[in-house]
Parts: sequence; C-alpha cells; structure tokens
Amino acid sequence: MTLVDLQKRFDEKIEAEVKIEPKDWMPDGYRKTLIRQISQHAHSEVVGMLPEGNWITRAPSLRRKAALLAKVQDEGGHGLYLYAAAETLGVSREELIDELLCGKAKYSSIFNYPALSWADIGAIGWLVDGAAIMNQVMLQRTSYGPYSRAMIRICKEESFHQRQGYEILLTLCRGSDEQKAMAQDSLNRWWWPSLMMFGPHDSESTHSEQSMSWKIKRKSNDELRQAFVDATVPQARYLGLTIPDPDLKWNESTGHWEFGEIDWEEFWQVVKGNGICNRQRLKDRIRAHEEGAWVREAAMAHAEKQRHRRDVA
Ligand code: 3HC
Repeated sequence: MTLVDLQKRFDEKIEAEVKIEPKDWMPDGYRKTLIRQISQHAHSEVVGMLPEGNWITRAPSLRRKAALLAKVQDEGGHGLYLYAAAETLGVSREELIDELLCGKAKYSSIFNYPALSWADIGAIGWLVDGAAIMNQVMLQRTSYGPYSRAMIRICKEESFHQRQGYEILLTLCRGSDEQKAMAQDSLNRWWWPSLMMFGPHDSESTHSEQSMSWKIKRKSNDELRQAFVDATVPQARYLGLTIPDPDLKWNESTGHWEFGEIDWEEFWQVVKGNGICNRQRLKDRIRAHEEGAWVREAAMAHAEKQRHRRDVA
C-alpha cells in the first residue's frame, strides 16, 4: 500500500469512528500528539498525588483518612494506565519519567498550587477532579483505542473522587463559622487555577484544531471550561459559598454562566515552572523515584528470573 492509501484508510477509520489501535498505521503527527498528551496526563496523575498525600496523616478522622488514601492510590493507578497507554505508541515509560524528572515534560498547572488546609482537600476533589471529569468523560470517546479504554476505566473512579471532596466541603459549610470560612478561603484560592486546567482559550490553543480533526479531542478547551462553570456554580450556591468572580452572571438567552477573564500571565508563569510549588513537586518526585529504585530493581530481577526459568524449562 502506498502512503496515500495508508493515509486514506486512516482518515476513513477516523471518519467512521473506528478506533485506531497500536498496530494500525498512523500519521507521525498523530502519534506525536498522543505521546505528548497521554504522557502529560500520566505525569499529572502522579504529581497530583503529592498535594493530597501531604494530608493523609493529617486527616481529621479515620473515615476521611481512608477515603483520601483510596483516592491517592487511585491516582497512582491512573498514572500507570496512562503510561501503559503511552507505551503502546512506541515510547518507553523510563523515557517519559526521565523527561518529567529533568523538568522537560509538562503536567497540569493545577498541581503547582499548595494544599494549605483540610478544606483544600475538599476543593481539590470537588473542583480539580470535577474539572478532570469534564475533560476525561470527553476523552472516553478519543480516537486512539488504548487511551479511550484507559479513560473509561479511570472515569469510573473519578466520580468517587469528586463526591468525597464535595462532601468534605458540605460538612465544613454546615459546621462552625471558622470551618465555613476555611471552605470559602479554599474556594477563593482554587477556583481560578481550576479554570486554567482546561488550557488556553481556543483561539490561543496550539493543538486544538488538529486534535479535534483527528478526534483526539472531541470538545474544545473553552467548551469544556464552560460546561465545568455551568455545573459548578449551582454546587457552590448549595454549599452557601461565593465564587470569587465579580463578573459571574447568568445569561438567560445563552443558558450559560458568564465569567470573568482568567489571569493568563499567572497561567503561563506556572506552566513555565514559576508557580508556587513547581520546584517542590519536582524535588518530591525525584526523591520518590530514587527511594523507589530498589522496588523497580527487585521487580525486574524477579521478572528476569521468571523468564530464565521459562527458557530452561
Ligand atoms: N497545565 C500545563 N500545561 C498546559 C495546560 C495546563 N493546564 N493546558 C495547556 N497546557 C499546555 C499544553 O500542553 C500545550 O503545551 P505543549 O505543546 O508543550 O504540550 C500548550 O499549553 C498549548 O495548549 P493546547 O490547548 O494547545 O494543548 P492541548 O491541545 O494538549 O490541550 C489539555 C490541553 C486540554 C490539558 C489537553 O492536553 C488534555 O486534554 N490533556 C488530557 C487531560 C489532562 O492532562 N488533564 C490534566 C489533569 S489530570 C487530573 O487532574 C487527574 C485527576 O485525577 C486529579
């Protein structure tokens, strides 16, 4: 088959909503975009364990500790699914992790903000996982088979993440004045960084147009951001909390919440590595990687021994 035939067959599959599988021919650009996006997604899951992990030993009850422990463990598993999905594209996990640890690879900006209070664990579950769900539910329909299947599996766990976070805030908002103030302070600090998770405006997005034509992305950054705001404003009202945006207003004719302008200077500073926690996150990841070396070596030695046993049998 000529390159033209191969491209034509690829285009027909995308058009017909047939998943692209690892053994299928695919344009280099499609492969490159997927490796970029899936690896950043995987890095986000693993780095995202850090702000929450700091609160496991400080959770206010055994029940809260158990739920947070389960969530953080889930995020680690999500990272592994996604690294495995990326490896089907011909890149090694070691390579991807090296790029993260040397500061070359991106992960979601949101994880460079500090979790300063127990209410932040609620805000992270409610807002960060809530935003991630908006995006990941859409990615269940992505055109690349392994990524779509990883998303279907991951989405099953995300709603628990979001629900446990929202319930933490509901408890605080029904508690003392100090507890409610803690919840409001947390919303004030996490609201705008959560909107930034969806990426730049569509007009500024480098990859969206191509990713949408390859059906990697099924909705644009702004569409997902708007869906998140529309879903989240009523939830904040139910909590009795105020969204920190004086420009927030309901537009009856469009049926959407209008909201103020995001501080894109802050966003790009965080993406470039100048956020509050960027250096700390990388330091923690490097330390965890070094401290975990013996586990990897033991697992590899065991696998080698098994392989040798099978060869001589
Ligand atoms: N943080 C860091 N970088 C970001 C970003 C963010 N929030 N949003 C965009 N960027 C980067 C992009 O990576 C791209 O840079 P690159 O070319 O060097 O990769 C640049 O900004 C331009 O952005 P685009 O909109 O053109 O990039 P994309 O088309 O890739 O769209 C995205 C960005 C919507 C985040 C998309 O990559 C995506 O859907 N990724 C998969 C989902 C994901 O990674 N979510 C992160 C959170 S995961 C999570 O929260 C786990 C949960 O369990 C807690």
